[in-house]
Amino acid sequence: MSVLHVIDHPMIQHKLSIMRQKETGSKDFRQLLKEISILMGYEVTRDLPLTDIQIETPIGPMTASRVLGRKMAIVPILRAGLGMVDGLLDLVPVAKVGHIGLYRNETTHKPVVYYCKLPEDIQDRLVIVTDPMLATGGSSCDALAMLKERGVANVRLMCLVAAPEGIAKVQAEHPDVDIYVAAVDERLNDDAYIVPGLGDAGDRIFGTK
Ligand code: PRP
Ligand code: URA
Repeated sequence: MSVLHVIDHPMIQHKLSIMRQKETGSKDFRQLLKEISILMGYEVTRDLPLTDIQIETPIGPMTASRVLGRKMAIVPILRAGLGMVDGLLDLVPVAKVGHIGLYRNETTHKPVVYYCKLPEDIQDRLVIVTDPMLATGGSSCDALAMLKERGVANVRLMCLVAAPEGIAKVQAEHPDVDIYVAAVDERLNDDAYIVPGLGDAGDRIFGTK
């Protein structure tokens, strides 16, 4: 069963509140999203397997632990998911990065695929899909389905703000995928935007409106 992790650390809530404010400009919005991604990344990677290695400290030998970071991939859903990549790469610099391009049709609110480029060995990796907004859940569900078609068996979804509708859809269609969010908001409006949400994440990151 898919587990919903709400990462409501005070520093994340503080930064998210600034992001939500309509006066916050793109530069600060991007920076805050990156900072939150690092903080959320700690929880998303909390149970990564460790492997023992033998090392020498200046004082003597010891058995130390290392994570198998080379076996991770970060897959942002374009565009807005890009805003969470740099923070995760600060945490796991050796992770590979794939890209899935989806946009929502403005009338139907259904996702349309326009791009997909993934690491060749994606099926052997733990994949973290990033998208700040989980609204109807259509984009995330389609991205997860595309990854599973490529043989991915170990995948997590990392979002910033989610609507209950989106969480329910992902949990119904992808019960094997854990979801990590910083906040669960009230609902969707008639345009399928999250209320109160933070507006259009892609436009706020890239300053396109
Ligand atoms: C936004 C957002 C998600 C999607 C969420 O992308 O970044 O990908 O909508 O909505 P859903 O859960 O209802 O599918 P958008 O289509 O606006 O594209 P953009 O990131 O390129 O602006
Ligand atoms: N996409 C966004 O960027 N924001 C929402 O509230 C819903 C979908």
